Amino acid sequence: MRFAAKTGSAADQKTACLILPVYSSGALPASTKSVNSATNGLIACLLEEGDIEGKAGDALLIKPPQDARTSHDLQAERILLIGCGERKKFDRKQYRKAVRVAFGALRKTKLKDAVCFLNGEAARGTDVYRRARIAAEVWYHGAYRYTATKSADEPKPCSQTSLGLTAKSAQTAQVRKGIKHGEATGLGMDVTRELGNLPANLCTPSHLVTVARQIAKGNAKLRVEVLTEADMKKQGMGALLSVTAGTAEPAKLIVLKYNGAAKSRKPVALVGKGVTFDSGGISLKPGPAMDEMKFDMCGAATVLGVFQAIALLKPTLNLVGVIPACENLPGSKATKPGDVVTAMSGKTIEILNTDAEGRLILADALTYAQKFKPELIIDMATLTGACLIALGRHRSGLLSNSDKLAHALIKAGDAADDPAWQLPLDDEYKAPLKSNFADLPNIGGRDAGTITAGAFLSEFVGEYDWAHLDIAGTAWLSGSRKGGTGRPVPLLLEFLLNRR
Ligand code: BES
Ligand code: MN
Ligand code: ZN
Repeated sequence: MRFAAKTGSAADQKTACLILPVYSSGALPASTKSVNSATNGLIACLLEEGDIEGKAGDALLIKPPQDARTSHDLQAERILLIGCGERKKFDRKQYRKAVRVAFGALRKTKLKDAVCFLNGEAARGTDVYRRARIAAEVWYHGAYRYTATKSADEPKPCSQTSLGLTAKSAQTAQVRKGIKHGEATGLGMDVTRELGNLPANLCTPSHLVTVARQIAKGNAKLRVEVLTEADMKKQGMGALLSVTAGTAEPAKLIVLKYNGAAKSRKPVALVGKGVTFDSGGISLKPGPAMDEMKFDMCGAATVLGVFQAIALLKPTLNLVGVIPACENLPGSKATKPGDVVTAMSGKTIEILNTDAEGRLILADALTYAQKFKPELIIDMATLTGACLIALGRHRSGLLSNSDKLAHALIKAGDAADDPAWQLPLDDEYKAPLKSNFADLPNIGGRDAGTITAGAFLSEFVGEYDWAHLDIAGTAWLSGSRKGGTGRPVPLLLEFLLNRR
């Protein structure tokens, strides 16, 4: 899709389709009004006669008769009216919805191009930059289709090739920047969603390596290094190796490095859980919905999605990605409950439940990330079912040893409509992490499962500022809309782009 900032009035746009806002009451917005006059009151008439009410979610595509276009000053061939609800309630969320509805309606047509005026409306909690960014992101999000493993019914790609967003001449730079950021966010989320959706027989640790290399290819600022199991052994990654022990599929530890700033600038480290299938291991999971454990690599997919976006934007910052990737399967060589392993940090861990595997691979990855002397570390992981119980599917769980970092991430999530919520991490929550046979066990009790998992991770971050995003509830949807969401790519990009 080619996006462009378009100056000039709505009536003057030469396009197959003009996307215009209408509210459920009050005067017509300026853009719509100009087209209304150019068409001899056509839009006012449609509203009056009830063809469209202007409620949020409404959409009406019209083709003014040829003579109306020639005898008046309308350059566009069609008009797509989009309901924006009550004007005084039009905020960022309503705007996002209006754009989603508009682009959804547009994609159902064969029209090649459109010019959108929805982003000309002052939605509360947005500026021109943000509205352009949301529009571009929403376009890509709506255009994504999973086809990788379908032979029939391949949905045909949409017909649109270019989309204009309205801009006053003084604001074109901001609109273009918004488009750029939104586009990168959308394309990054595509990477994350596609990897999540791919079945585990295809999306193996080695496949994650392939995708990491694809992202870095031809980009002088990006490097990829891969540790094999032999390398992991040399590094003493006993925790990570204990998880992969039961499977024949080789584990990988993928390191991505983006150098966009002076070498002296410390990098931000992103660590993502990459369990490409989590059966639970010897502590086998129950059958129902076990297929969804193919999504247990969504933390890793988020790191790759963020790197895809960063590869496109090339911002002035340094970034390191660390992805521990493996399967968690039972087998004759699998780790057993009660086994004690030694992590790279030197701590011994009693594995009381092989299904609490995410924290084990993260323990070693967090230790490894410290080799790069990062300014801070953020890990994301589909870590605990308990997070879904606590927060549902709207907000990701956030735990941190730095309130400043936690605050910055919450703010970024809210701004990007990819929200998170902080859970406490008092020392008291570490109390259940006591073992008679090792430095610590890999599970606490039943209580506060998300927090004790975070408390376990905190044992492996040393003195570094660190935050953990539990994305068990937000990384994918279940039921009829089953599929990866691309979260928390928007939150992380918002955070990273704000830091420059
Ligand atoms: N990948 C799961 C967490 C999960 C479960 C995410 C369901 C989303 C939906 C993780 O590895 C796991 O199995 N966690 C256990 C931890 C428990 C054994 C302490 C859990 O949440 O049940
Ligand atoms: Mn598990
Ligand atoms: Zn898991």
